[in-house]
Amino acid sequence: MSNPQSKWTYGSLAGGEAESFSGSLPCRHYAQERRVTAREALGRAVRFLREREIESPRLNAEIFLGHVLDRPHSHLYFESHRLLSISQLAKFKKLTVKRSRHEPLSYLIGKQSFMNLSFMVNSKVYIPRPETEILVDAVLKLLRDSFLHAHRRPLIIDLGTGCGNIAMSLAQEMPEAIVYATDISGEALEVAAHNAQLHHLEDRVVFIKGDLFDPLREEDLEGRVDVIISNPPYVATREIESLPPEVRREPRIALDGGKEGLEYYQRIIPLSSRFLRRGALLALEIGHGQLEKIRHMIACQEDMEPAGIVKDYKGIERIILTKKKVTGEE
Ligand SMILES: C[S@@+](CC[C@H](N)C(=O)[O-])C[C@H]1O[C@@H](n2cnc3c(N)ncnc32)[C@H](O)[C@@H]1O
Repeated sequence: MSNPQSKWTYGSLAGGEAESFSGSLPCRHYAQERRVTAREALGRAVRFLREREIESPRLNAEIFLGHVLDRPHSHLYFESHRLLSISQLAKFKKLTVKRSRHEPLSYLIGKQSFMNLSFMVNSKVYIPRPETEILVDAVLKLLRDSFLHAHRRPLIIDLGTGCGNIAMSLAQEMPEAIVYATDISGEALEVAAHNAQLHHLEDRVVFIKGDLFDPLREEDLEGRVDVIISNPPYVATREIESLPPEVRREPRIALDGGKEGLEYYQRIIPLSSRFLRRGALLALEIGHGQLEKIRHMIACQEDMEPAGIVKDYKGIERIILTKKKVTGEE
């Protein structure tokens, strides 16, 4: 049950009845309001989000305020007595109200950090997750070791690149690497291309639109690739409706892994060895409870062998690593 006191408080924050706030109200509507300090606005937004059961209401509100004031949210302490301008307050309210309707925080501020880089995101792309940083870390560790004394440039394929976060983090960490990144979504690739420009990686990350490996067939990569990496869609179709509302706002094409969530692995695993050189790596992020079935798919590939499993922060087996055998037919 909502607290009438904080509803009233947010009423003033939202320029009237909170739920009727549309974000397109004319500025003079706000001009009638008393100017508020950053601290007051923050307190109201935290209460508003908490009442609407948004997880981590304070962190969300702080990030919005930092975004509006163009300051890192960790520095807000120094801004607490600052009076917000009318337009800053309007922007802050708009973000808060949208968040209360379960729009993902990253879409609202238009960015997400991943491996210490900031990536532009919008509703056309999947939002990079911390679990996927574990995937990139695992690959970097193995690649750095094996390329320490190699005198050639590592070739990497990233399947389903989204905003380009995996491809660009690898390229950034391995200044010699060339990354081929595919996605079936042209809208996602537009975002990825923007991010490549932002990080000055256009020369080493090649984005190609198409279905998994299909667009790579003309690139003369067969038997030459050092790593294939992917965080494919892996949610079972029937589970999509029960995902949190924020996740359901992400593109369905980025989530839906087919009947059991395994369709992409069924396609990626058998095709990988055609592209990998001997001893090279296939690294996949996997869903909760999918390990055994994916392990079985790998075991069915005569020229591939297991190279490790990595758990995520919750202790769930999240990353599966496989290598193309060094012996055997190319
Ligand atoms: C779970 S998201 C991963 C995005 C990003 N790589 C990451 O890890 O944050 C899966 C991505 O696969 C893309 N995708 C879906 N089906 C595809 C297909 N058949 N071929 C290539 N990409 C596909 C989606 O558009 C989406 O960008």
